[in-house]
Amino acid sequence: KRKHLVAPSLLSADFAHLHDDITMVNQSEADWFHVDIMDGVFVPNISFGFPVLASIAHYARKPLDVHLMISDPDKYLGQFKELGADHITVHLEACTHLNRTVHAIRELGCTAGVAINPSTPVSLLHEIVEDVDVVLIMSVNPGFGGQQFIEGTYRKIKELRRLAEERNDRLLIEVDGGVSIHNALALLKAGADILVAGNSIFAAKNPIHAIAELKRIKPD
Ligand code: DX5
Ligand code: ZN
Repeated sequence: KRKHLVAPSLLSADFAHLHDDITMVNQSEADWFHVDIMDGVFVPNISFGFPVLASIAHYARKPLDVHLMISDPDKYLGQFKELGADHITVHLEACTHLNRTVHAIRELGCTAGVAINPSTPVSLLHEIVEDVDVVLIMSVNPGFGGQQFIEGTYRKIKELRRLAEERNDRLLIEVDGGVSIHNALALLKAGADILVAGNSIFAAKNPIHAIAELKRIKPD
């Protein structure tokens, strides 16, 4: 039986009280911190950069799952590792030489993830799936928290799960965007391993409880 992971997305945290939100995640049942880096080029939004990541890393007591929504990520991989990234995920759509990028991440000693946008088919992963640790399926168009979950995601997760059974049985499938207690069970049943959630955790009355609820779902 697979145990699923929960990764709260700090994009929905209160940046003026970031320490409080990091402490909350440290004390919760969450597995990883999901950290969204946006450059205003690959996505139509800018989140935060290196100094903020350094502060997060200083207080976080769980692995940092760094989701790079940036063009030409190769330039900055070393710097993200230096600042404390454990898992680095790049977008397939942002990489001209994806195989090279994935190997560069692994060479740094990080686990390597590849993210695909809602309009990118799972079939484009055929030649890379054996070389990655994580595939992140975007279930909203990247750039913003609090958007509505795209229903076609279930089909993509199932297709990726079949591909992983054939080619990489250690692959972790991560789903990101519009994840909440209302769709988490169906996502796990479809084959997801890692649930990223921003708004549904940080806008909850009791975020610790919202995390615990996502963690305690039993798919079988
Ligand atoms: C969106 C980011 C997500 C986002 C998820 O571009 O990659 O990680 O923070 O937020 P919610 O859970 O609010 O959709
Ligand atoms: Zn993300």
